[in-house]
Amino acid sequence: MTILFQVDKFLFMDISAEIKKVTDPIYQKISNTVPEIEWTTHAPYIYKINKLKKKKNAVILAHNYQTPEIYHGISDFSADSLALAVEAAKTEADIIVMCGVHFMAETAKLMSPDKKVLLPDMSAGCSLSSSITGEDVRKLKKQYPGVPVVSYVNTSADVKAETDVCCTSANAVKIVNSMNSKKVIFLPDDYLAKYVASQTDVEIISWKGTCEVHEQFNDEEINEIRKNNPGIKIIAHPECPEEILRHAEHIGSTSSLLKYTENSGSSSFIVATEPHIIHQMKKRAPQKEFIIAPGNDGSCSCSKCPFMELNTMEKLLHCLENNTPSIYMDSVLMKSAKKPLIKMLEMS
Ligand code: 13P
Ligand code: SF4
Repeated sequence: MTILFQVDKFLFMDISAEIKKVTDPIYQKISNTVPEIEWTTHAPYIYKINKLKKKKNAVILAHNYQTPEIYHGISDFSADSLALAVEAAKTEADIIVMCGVHFMAETAKLMSPDKKVLLPDMSAGCSLSSSITGEDVRKLKKQYPGVPVVSYVNTSADVKAETDVCCTSANAVKIVNSMNSKKVIFLPDDYLAKYVASQTDVEIISWKGTCEVHEQFNDEEINEIRKNNPGIKIIAHPECPEEILRHAEHIGSTSSLLKYTENSGSSSFIVATEPHIIHQMKKRAPQKEFIIAPGNDGSCSCSKCPFMELNTMEKLLHCLENNTPSIYMDSVLMKSAKKPLIKMLEMS
């Protein structure tokens, strides 16, 4: 491949006829979100990654916050974290590449322990996951003896190992209601805990974790947009603070938000979740309008997840070529951390 010239981070390449033939049909699907000039950088990677994926019997799972080139160019399955966990459990591939963050890759490894699970960038963490340790959970259990622990899937394997049942944003209320307990310790997202508490009679003991992306949305700015756009609907992920959720017409997991915008009779939406999801919303409903909810700094830039963005085509190709970096956990930890995930799937 010949590099013709470089502007900013983009290398403009001479795409061979073969690459063009294979990748043009993919580009047609996303030409309204990815400029053609950017595509020339992605296409050679997409071509190579897809070839390598077949050769190695690998599957690429992508979270709903991934870029259009990952989502449409190379992923085999894209969804919210619940569906990614289910897919990881049933795949017949030898290698799982997780285009998401570390807890998603760990979950995939727990669901499919015999498979190699690759994460393109091991520093793709999550502010919720890093807010709590297994030791913190052990202390809480001593403080509230006999109270069951429900942990959000956005946690490390150490935390899962101390947990009775995991949950995701798609099933949190259902799982808490199914615990048959008047009190539940719900970790680590304080805002999701408050949302669950508002939907159930169960007393919730929460932890002070937050998502550094969803806690940034500003309700005054959002309401200002609403005032100027009659009929616009606010949609929000339950990791948002109460003052955002209070105004939302629809609250749900990333997949639920996508479905809502596709099926709703409304033609415009303020989106209070990570804005990379909007390319899919536009693809499913091209005639509708989507406005990113503004953050506390008055802009929309704080709402991008810095961890999800670490997955790039270059890193993806590198990890598939070299089978690294891969997820490793010792077998004792894996056995304990898997149990609450299995229980969650049984109860969902
Ligand atoms: P979903 O389970 O709704 O996809 O959310 C995962 C996440 O990390 C949202 O910030
Ligand atoms: Fe974690 Fe928030 Fe990023 Fe989701 S958006 S991965 S909860 S930091």
